[in-house]
Amino acid sequence: MKQEVGAVPLSGPYLDGREEELVLEVLQSGRLSLGPTVDRFEELFAEKVGAPFAAAVSSGTAGLHLLCITHGIGAGDEVITTPYSFAATANCFIYEGAVPVFADVDPRTLNIDPAAVEAAITPRTKAIVTVDIFGYPCELDELRAIADKHGLALIDDSCEALGARYKGAPLGSQGLGAVFAFYPNKQITTGEGGMVTTHSEEEWRLLRSLRNQGRGDSGGWLEHVRLGFNYRIDDIRAAIGIGQLEKLDEILAARADVARRYRELLAGLPGVEPPCADDDDHVRSWFVYVVALSDNATRERVIATFERERIGFNRYLPSIHLQPYMRERYGFREGMCPVSEDASSRTLALPFFTALDAASQERVAEVLASAL
Ligand SMILES: Cc1ncc(COP(=O)(O)O)c(C=O)c1O
Repeated sequence: MKQEVGAVPLSGPYLDGREEELVLEVLQSGRLSLGPTVDRFEELFAEKVGAPFAAAVSSGTAGLHLLCITHGIGAGDEVITTPYSFAATANCFIYEGAVPVFADVDPRTLNIDPAAVEAAITPRTKAIVTVDIFGYPCELDELRAIADKHGLALIDDSCEALGARYKGAPLGSQGLGAVFAFYPNKQITTGEGGMVTTHSEEEWRLLRSLRNQGRGDSGGWLEHVRLGFNYRIDDIRAAIGIGQLEKLDEILAARADVARRYRELLAGLPGVEPPCADDDDHVRSWFVYVVALSDNATRERVIATFERERIGFNRYLPSIHLQPYMRERYGFREGMCPVSEDASSRTLALPFFTALDAASQERVAEVLASAL
């Protein structure tokens, strides 16, 4: 990755000659789409996360949308989700005409609070879309108990959490539908791409049909047995994904090292709250390094200094219910989810990627300290 001297980018992919080799093989094979490399990518991925079935798709958003369809989410249904996430977490069911209901997050983990979910259930509630925010596993068992008690579907948006572990097992192995994403800032990338894992063969077959224009298993190219989409990933991207999965353990370990260095470097800085720590039940897969500062004015002062010093940053994450299209369409306002809104006002993503070196991290810490 080319880097401007002195500048520290926010994120970047981690690639080597192996991806080039695998992509070249696909190009030379002539099987650029609907070929065997996609099948291999899916098999390898399913094995890595401990799920029996995986369906590769064109993006994380596409995967979430498809799971909303396989769970029968439709017009007029209410779906409970977290406000502290990327917009696609809510968009995926709005595409099907469902209405978002935001339940506030836990202030420590920034994941959806199961008690707030339970309080938001109405006779129209159809599903819960939960998120493992910044790679930290959400309270899956509690959410599953609530979903079972009320007959709701539960979808896990694990787009930021490949490699995370909940109660000793990788996310994806818990028995419910989960979605992973491969944009270049993620733990692994395919450029654009995503993966849906499921524990139901029937659902897996349906996902494969839906992503492929609704074609049936045995039908022809021009036979469409249901309303489908072109949400396919191609074999070129799948080849990149295989190269990335082959070094997943190395990537996860390197990212954990980067996070550990930040924790040490920032430990003495007053008013800089690090991401919440792991415990026996929750082991984070490091996606981003987001700190909470004391207030919005401090964050904006830090950002002004970062801009001047060419240090990458982002205001991860704005609360979804306060996005302009959400306010306009549903009338959402400040005060609906105070914990999420408070976090949104003062959280800041620092430069974070697999190959981030110690010297750059020291510079980030120094500039941050000078701005405070
Ligand atoms: C929590 C979450 N959900 C969904 C997505 C959507 O993934 P994609 O960009 O691959 O559509 C992302 C990606 O940024 C994400 O972080």
